[in-house]
Amino acid sequence: MSFRKKIILSQLILFIVFIAALFPFINRAVVRLVRESLEESTNDLIDLIDDANSENELVERLKNQEFFVFFHITLIDEKKQIIYDSYGERFLHFLEAEPHPELEEAEKDEIGYAVIDSKVFSGRFAYIAQKFSFQGKTYYLLTAFPFGQIQDITKNFEIGFLIFSFVMLLFFTGLTWLIFNRLSQPIREIINTIKPYQMGKVEEIPKIVLKRKTSEEDEFKQLASTLNSLSEKVQSQIRREKDFVANASHELRTPITVIRGFVETLSDLPKISKETLAEVTEKILRNCERMENLVKSLLTLADLENIPESRFTACDLVVLVENCKHILLSVYSNASIKIQKDQDQMIISADADILELAILNLLDNAAKYSKPPAKIIIKLEDMGESVKLMISDQGIGIPLEDLDRIFERFYTVDKARSRKFGGAGLGLSIVKTIIDKHRGKIQVASKVGEGTIFTILLPKHR
Ligand SMILES: Nc1ncnc2c1ncn2[C@@H]1O[C@H](COP(=O)(O)OP(=O)(O)OP(=O)(O)O)[C@@H](O)[C@H]1O
Ligand SMILES: [Mg+2]
Repeated sequence: MSFRKKIILSQLILFIVFIAALFPFINRAVVRLVRESLEESTNDLIDLIDDANSENELVERLKNQEFFVFFHITLIDEKKQIIYDSYGERFLHFLEAEPHPELEEAEKDEIGYAVIDSKVFSGRFAYIAQKFSFQGKTYYLLTAFPFGQIQDITKNFEIGFLIFSFVMLLFFTGLTWLIFNRLSQPIREIINTIKPYQMGKVEEIPKIVLKRKTSEEDEFKQLASTLNSLSEKVQSQIRREKDFVANASHELRTPITVIRGFVETLSDLPKISKETLAEVTEKILRNCERMENLVKSLLTLADLENIPESRFTACDLVVLVENCKHILLSVYSNASIKIQKDQDQMIISADADILELAILNLLDNAAKYSKPPAKIIIKLEDMGESVKLMISDQGIGIPLEDLDRIFERFYTVDKARSRKFGGAGLGLSIVKTIIDKHRGKIQVASKVGEGTIFTILLPKHR
């Protein structure tokens, strides 16, 4: 069931429950209203007669009021004797024939009301008894109204109420439908825009553009822009993944093609000199190493996706950096690496293994992209809540236009140069992923021919 239908249905149910609950009150209110108007008419009648000069005149005046709404009027004195009855002499004793509780009530409370099934007048009547004083004596005016007429009034009122409620119900339901139709228009637009993608008719999630101009605060507009940016992110993630697979396969295929070529050369040349053999096998070995490096990097990237939180422990960045220095010197023995630090110990919460990998990758680049002997400086600075780690070299530098992209997977400034060293452009993307895992930041500044500085900010606590 659509949202609109649900709202309309719940509104209908609420309305019906409301009317059903109100109905008994309507009935009672109408009866009360009729009773009050009868009481008022009785009092009006008393007002018309009580300025008479004598009891006889009182009765005379009453006789002249026949046009009054009542079916039956009786005047009673304080001894409960009927001194006048609109039906004449023969009913002067009707009070004795059947009980009249309204009279007793009036004696106590000035006014009384009772519905009586009268045998004397053969019918059901609503009786009002009103006590009043005339020339120092107490009198009662008894008025009767056919109860059937009260019931008719009530019934008419009830029917009127039901018709009114029904019309109101139709009106409000229609109004709600219209309002909801208008309010939910953006939702339908959003669904209709996305539907072709959901049904597989289009490749990319279409951009949601709402027809109606609304303010920035409009929730639907916010929803649309949230969905738009979400789909953009998903789309670019998908694109990146596709590119990644394409790049990885390409990078793997190249050394395989080269190795294959050399192996074919070997088998085609039955008599081969020792020097050529050494040269060819050396090339095969280099390409094997390249493949090995690439697969290792790919596995590292995959591993980094699922590093558990438990691997973060307190570790000393000074020790870590010194370790990296020794490892690098074992590969680039002629390189010079200086460590500048303002403290002997810098404890941070980190995954030591992967942080070491990141630093090694940066040091490897610094050495690789410098004319040997490489001159590298590592600077450590305590920043209070975080630690700053700077690695600078005096190497070939990175052109300005490439600076933004070097952290992308497989991005290399000079393909041929990177390949010569067996690199595929994954090192810095591994570094970036590791720094992100530590909720740190990495920046690069470089000048071609002068050198490069990588600056890392690592929070001490995660
Ligand atoms: N210190 C540096 N000096 C000059 N250029 C650098 C430096 N560090 C990185 N670069 C440039 O950035 C590119 C990307 O570096 P990255 O470490 O990601 O890849 P790589 O070193 O080519 O290969 P890999 O690290 O996967 O073996 C490099 O190809 C290089 O052109
Ligand atoms: Mg590298």
